Amino acid sequence: MSVQPLGVALVGYGYWGPNLLRNYMELPEAEVKWVCDVRAEALKTAQSRYASVPVSTAYDQVLADPAVDAVLVATPISTHHAIAKAALEAGKHVFVEKPMTADAAQARELVELAAARGLTLMVGHTFVFSPPVRKVKELIEAGALGEIYFITTQRVNLGLHQKDVSVVWDLAPHDLSVLYYWLGEHACAVSVYGRGCITPDVPDVAFINLKFPSGVVAEIQASWLSPVKLRRTIVVGSKKMLVYDDTENVEKVKIYDHGVDFQEPSDYGEFQLSYRTGDIVAPKISGAEPLYLEAQHFVHSIVDRQPPLTGGEQGLQVVISLEAAEASLRAGGVEMPIAVPPCTA
Ligand SMILES: NC(=O)c1ccc[n+]([C@@H]2O[C@H](COP(=O)([O-])OP(=O)(O)OC[C@H]3O[C@@H](n4cnc5c(N)ncnc54)[C@H](O)[C@@H]3O)[C@@H](O)[C@H]2O)c1
Repeated sequence: MSVQPLGVALVGYGYWGPNLLRNYMELPEAEVKWVCDVRAEALKTAQSRYASVPVSTAYDQVLADPAVDAVLVATPISTHHAIAKAALEAGKHVFVEKPMTADAAQARELVELAAARGLTLMVGHTFVFSPPVRKVKELIEAGALGEIYFITTQRVNLGLHQKDVSVVWDLAPHDLSVLYYWLGEHACAVSVYGRGCITPDVPDVAFINLKFPSGVVAEIQASWLSPVKLRRTIVVGSKKMLVYDDTENVEKVKIYDHGVDFQEPSDYGEFQLSYRTGDIVAPKISGAEPLYLEAQHFVHSIVDRQPPLTGGEQGLQVVISLEAAEASLRAGGVEMPIAVPPCTA
């Protein structure tokens, strides 16, 4: 028996939308029914690339089409809630780009609405689908690194300054979603120093410090101002350490058999530290495109009626963390607690 491909409509064809469109056009399990944008020029560009795809500036027209099973939202953050809510109310499954919404109340409403209607709601935390991130998760879960002590991560380059959101909301969703996925827990407190170097009201550099219930501490450096592009994460465990560098072409993950062992004093002498600098191993990792895997996961979650790995609840937890991080930044670095979502939908 052949299964009908899932009908999808893409809303938002700016910088990121074309990447979603390219991947959904390649996915046999999906069929793109519409591309929608308020800018007619954007739709002209979409049609010049894919002449067969219908386009519209009228979102209502897209939602009224029964052939549309799911809506993909790739518009600016401030519009996510309204566009996603209208889709859920029209009975469509929703994939919404990161961060899920502009505040936690909006995110909670979408989670509850999707649950009440029995619809799939997924957030575009793309890196969770990236093969090197998956490999690190596998290593952590297998205990290969031992107890995780701390994680540092750098996401800096000469990036596009956003007008409406700080670098925290633009870049940190990636790192937060990856850290939460790896550790299987959410940060419980955050403290952030940052500043708006170019536009005083829009911070373009932030040093985000996180504390986790297990004792793990982490730091995310996020900036749109840097002479070089760095996408580098270091995970330090009691047995091994690793470097995940997403700018590398092949050896994106390197595992270091390095560490320091503490030896209790055998008599009344001083304790001993023994340093270990052993092998460095780069595991073989698939080169599959994270966005393609993400698109496939969205379709499979709907068809199999399984909760997606980056569902509404995961999206909500990231938004709650971003709110706390932004509040800390605005308060000059004061530590802010991060609440666990009080939502049981
Ligand atoms: N997953 C990732 O790695 C990744 C990377 C970049 C951006 N993003 C996310 O993608 C989203 C879009 O970012 P972008 O950089 O492409 O923004 P953009 O401003 O370049 O594009 C947004 C597009 O949405 C259109 N639009 C705005 N309001 C609309 C509406 N009400 N109806 C229909 N179309 C509308 C605009 O005309 C524009 O073409 C953001 O949430 C961003 O965080 C995700």
